[in-house]
Amino acid sequence: MLEDTKKGMSLPRQVRIFDTTLRDGEQTPGVSLTVEEKVTIAHQLDKLGVDVIEAGFPISSKGEKKSVSKVVSEGLHAEICGLARVLPQDVDAAIECGVDIVHIFVSTSDIQREHTIKKSREEVIELTVSAVERIKNNGAKCLFSAMDATRTDLEYLRKVFKSAEEAGADIINIPDTVGVAIPPLMRYITGKIFKDVVIPIDVHCHNDFGLAVANSLAAVEAGAREIQVAVNGIGERAGNASLEQSVMALKAIYNVNTNIKTEYLYETSKLVERLTGVRMSPNMPVVGENAFSHESGIHTHGVLENTETFEPGVMTPEMVGHKRRIVSGKHAGVHGIQAQLEQLGVKASREQIYSITRRVKELGDKGKRITDADLLAIAETAIGEVGGDEKVLVLEEFAVMTGSKVIPTASVKLKFKDRELMGAETGVGPVDAALKAVRKVLSEVEDIRLTEYHLEAITGGGDALSEVLVKLEDSSGNIASGKAAREDIVIASIEAMISGINRIFLMRIEKK
Ligand code: KIV
Ligand code: ZN
Repeated sequence: MLEDTKKGMSLPRQVRIFDTTLRDGEQTPGVSLTVEEKVTIAHQLDKLGVDVIEAGFPISSKGEKKSVSKVVSEGLHAEICGLARVLPQDVDAAIECGVDIVHIFVSTSDIQREHTIKKSREEVIELTVSAVERIKNNGAKCLFSAMDATRTDLEYLRKVFKSAEEAGADIINIPDTVGVAIPPLMRYITGKIFKDVVIPIDVHCHNDFGLAVANSLAAVEAGAREIQVAVNGIGERAGNASLEQSVMALKAIYNVNTNIKTEYLYETSKLVERLTGVRMSPNMPVVGENAFSHESGIHTHGVLENTETFEPGVMTPEMVGHKRRIVSGKHAGVHGIQAQLEQLGVKASREQIYSITRRVKELGDKGKRITDADLLAIAETAIGEVGGDEKVLVLEEFAVMTGSKVIPTASVKLKFKDRELMGAETGVGPVDAALKAVRKVLSEVEDIRLTEYHLEAITGGGDALSEVLVKLEDSSGNIASGKAAREDIVIASIEAMISGINRIFLMRIEKK
């Protein structure tokens, strides 16, 4: 079916990747990169295999010019490009940086021409021609962009591009500056220009309606041979077409090559995320934390049988340097939990896996996402617990009272073998009161001392799971530890204590 839909397209074997992370990407509100950060990203882009790195807009500031010159001096494999308006001083600033390509742009739509640069259609063409000639006289490559092309009168747009080509431009770019194009429009404009010019066509799509990648791909279908993209899709407003999504769609769906070493996509995304401070949403395609994560029991079961059941298949996590994750939550099933435990190196019996799954679902129902650390704590508790018939002590009920004007008090009801034991105690806080109450109630039959107590919040946040570890000793010198993980530290403390007491009783039986 997919192959049938590709029949009318003029798909190339290869598309060039023009990366604008350091230029349009840096225009993301709130982002400002130092020279060192730009150089670090440039090296990563080079490792990734982009064909062109747009390093910045040299005329915009001294720092920017320095950054572009520094990126040029790094001797990278990719071609380095600098942005310029169609003005002599802009072109000269880019040339002075030593860039391989000068990317000139001018507004061609009536709305931008009349309200921003205030130039007539003819003046725009004159400025374009002289800027192209200035670049070519300086021996650099020239990329010409008709800014706001998708809102420009088509006949005029064709004339502008033709003039740029005749003046010597090496490549022309069709920008969808305000992201209003839809794929058929991109296909239409690109197709028209493709018939007019012999030089390659590049496109630059913004993501205001979430269509930047789709529009870039539509342009490729109609003859574009280069696409302008940014890592993580960052850029002005809602950003640019995302590099990783565009490249993977070309490779995996269209069967069109790029020079990108896709196994570096995830690490590149993480680096750009860290240096720009623009956080990726977990559901971001290709590089988002959930891009290859499975939670629901049905999906997890399917993926464990065959990954293609609930993944695209043509794109695997390995292809993009990412990882497949089985995530626990309220939709988790025993298969998923078992696989996740195996990934974490934990061995558990069937009974324990069922008990862990129950706990995970309980927490998931309360809206909690279970991290690997949480799962480990839950598993350790379940595995460390004395099971079934060997449990001599069971917590039946408990209550605690605390506040600024009351003495923290706890009451507990325990079942010891067939006996019911009840009692209450006060303490310096609710945990102290609860542990003292357990010990007091149990003292009717046993004297067990608490020798150590450790509390740790496993993950951040007010609803973090807390793990309590206790060490206990009985009057004969038997020592055992008990562990429990809960969102409530009082319950976790009581459960850890009871788990430890059961282990002491088990030790005694085993000694006999
Ligand atoms: O969005 C745009 O039109 C641009 C140009 C400079 C190509 O960023
Ligand atoms: Zn842009």
